[in-house]
Amino acid sequence: MTSSNAPRAGVIGWPVAHSLSPTIHRYWLRRYGIDGSYDPIAVPPDDIEAFLGDLRGRGYCGANVTVPYKLEALKASKRVSETARRIGAVNTLFYENDDLIGTNSDAEGFLLNLRAAVPDWSASGGPAVVLGAGGAARAVLVALADAGVSAIRLLNRTSEKAEALRELAPAIIEPVPWDARAEALNDAGLLVNTTSLGMVGQPRLEIDLAHLPREALVYDIVYRPLETELLAAARARGNRVVDGLGMLLFQARPGFRLWFGREPEVTDDLRRIVLEAAA
Ligand code: ATR
Repeated sequence: MTSSNAPRAGVIGWPVAHSLSPTIHRYWLRRYGIDGSYDPIAVPPDDIEAFLGDLRGRGYCGANVTVPYKLEALKASKRVSETARRIGAVNTLFYENDDLIGTNSDAEGFLLNLRAAVPDWSASGGPAVVLGAGGAARAVLVALADAGVSAIRLLNRTSEKAEALRELAPAIIEPVPWDARAEALNDAGLLVNTTSLGMVGQPRLEIDLAHLPREALVYDIVYRPLETELLAAARARGNRVVDGLGMLLFQARPGFRLWFGREPEVTDDLRRIVLEAAA
């Protein structure tokens, strides 16, 4: 039971029932014995503007925002963090006095997960190859640019979208044709899949890894299944791999800290519980 003045947060989406965020935040609330709650909040498109316009009036001290409302959340924010502005999307909302503030924790989540999984990873280990140019790719590109990667080859089925993302870091992002993905792996230090390919119910990600150096790291942000075909193939040939579940867990941390006042930990126990919920 939570008391009536306990902080209340949640994840806003449409639909939102599939979201794993309640599993993560409720786990932390229980673990730390915090009097607070975290709800799935389904808001229909016609209501989203009004809802975000008065989150507090609806009883929430803040929220995560998921598909399809990350842009609406950016527009509804009185101020946004530099990272959210660059990514062009807000996934975490909180109040500072009476102002709604928008941030984006996806880039941080991507990088913290990478560093947790491979502590000796170095941004200077060779060019990064990024597959995909959707919302997730924007956060990954910002993260890699901020981490100091000196060159990023960006490949997307729809080449115009890769061209458009160059502006995130024009000096280092080089769009490469989708059909050249096998050769694009030459000398790479990191390969990241940000597309939905390889996810349960989606088409396979077809990519020949023969040109990829064995020292390269392979990171798939897809986590359903946890070990994608890409990660299995990379592991089989000796590359180190990073799965996408940790990105989901690490991106949840800033919100929890802001709403509930405690820095939560990403533990193996949390990974196991979220994996079970995702199955
Ligand atoms: P997210 O927010 O998770 O990044 P998104 O914005 O819908 O989701 O982006 C999905 C990505 O997967 C895009 O890069 C998309 O390529 P297009 O821009 O060409 O649509 C990619 N993707 C999805 N299905 C694909 C397929 N069958 N072949 C190649 N790329 C695909």
